Amino acid sequence: MKILITGGAGFVGANLAQWLAARGHRVFVMDNLVRRGSELNLPRLKEQGITFVHGDVRCAEDFVALPKDIEVVLECCAQPSAIDGYANPLFDINNNTIGLLNTLEFARRCGAGLVFWSTNKTYAGVHINKFPVVEQDSRWVWDKAAIAAEYGDKLPAGFDPDHGFSAEFTVDGKDHSIYGLSKIMADLACQEWSDAFGVKTVINRFSCLAGEGQFGKSAQGWVAWWAIAFHFGLPLKYIGWAGKQVRDALFIEDICRLIETEIGMLDQLAGRVFNVGGGRDITLSLREATALMERRFGWSVPVVYEEDPRKADHCIYISDIRPLTAATGWTPQVTVEEGYDRIIRWVVDHEDELARLYLDQPAKRAVLHAAG
Ligand SMILES: NC(=O)c1ccc[n+]([C@@H]2O[C@H](COP(=O)([O-])OP(=O)(O)OC[C@H]3O[C@@H](n4cnc5c(N)ncnc54)[C@H](O)[C@@H]3O)[C@@H](O)[C@H]2O)c1
Repeated sequence: MKILITGGAGFVGANLAQWLAARGHRVFVMDNLVRRGSELNLPRLKEQGITFVHGDVRCAEDFVALPKDIEVVLECCAQPSAIDGYANPLFDINNNTIGLLNTLEFARRCGAGLVFWSTNKTYAGVHINKFPVVEQDSRWVWDKAAIAAEYGDKLPAGFDPDHGFSAEFTVDGKDHSIYGLSKIMADLACQEWSDAFGVKTVINRFSCLAGEGQFGKSAQGWVAWWAIAFHFGLPLKYIGWAGKQVRDALFIEDICRLIETEIGMLDQLAGRVFNVGGGRDITLSLREATALMERRFGWSVPVVYEEDPRKADHCIYISDIRPLTAATGWTPQVTVEEGYDRIIRWVVDHEDELARLYLDQPAKRAVLHAAG
């Protein structure tokens, strides 16, 4: 198949491009290289015969450089941080919403299907955080007794304390973050383009994505950032919830397997929306990630605590993946421990490349670790 990946030099896009190229697809990547580190993926893409087009989804003219017979568009480019948008909201809207509209129109002209990377930030903090929680040593958990007492058998649609949130959960409310707002508008546009124009769209509202090749930072991509920070002895930060906020994590191999499955099922899945993550069996909190890194690396790094949570942050977010599994047969396979094994191996293998990004100089690991 002829496949376009927008944002294809980024973490998810570059992994996916290589995965699909290795399986015989003809892959085109469009990226404006705004994310630091994405440029490092270009030689790897070239080696696999993937065509790179330096373009920006905000500019409809940039799509002219692409073939007109693309069959599937994988839309995984974004300004992906949930905090940056407060400084410049129109940037997120232009990039993530208007850019998506240009991409949808391109897909429509080609007669292509489109898989969209939506997010759990389409759900407002005000709703996600309203369910009672109990504090445990390393994480928050839902207080099932208190939830039962408060809601009885009238739980809001899309929430089940045994499984998490499904796509039936309300997207109304405030406190989505500007990023979340930009994505829910794009997400709805995908649904609308499917209905109004017959573009076969599949919308994945992803939770926490992680894996090798992720140039993570505190503001985005925190799972990989934890391993990078430990490797170089850099300080970490817990922002709110005492570092016990919980996410379900989905590792890159499982993402690639899912997208391959969805590409093969576009006719059946057109117009569908799914919450996607590791689900209830693959979860972790910040503190648990720290403890795991301490065990793997054999040393600690300084941790700074900030008491107030980030705006629009979720205390516990777990994707209810049962509808996705029922529709596709897909289930995530990579555990937190295996996922971190792979990330740590990648960090060690790419130490100099990462040191230039994170230390602005070649690696001086021995010195840093001795100091730390
Ligand atoms: N990483 C996560 O935890 C997570 C969770 C939910 C959803 N998502 C979504 O998944 C997708 C992939 O995320 P990622 O982690 O790979 O991010 P990433 O930042 O590594 O990759 C995004 C890529 O898009 C490119 N890009 C940004 N704006 C562009 C534009 N206007 N035109 C062309 N290219 C542009 C960047 O240069 C980058 O290479 C994003 O849509 C993100 O919002 C990510």
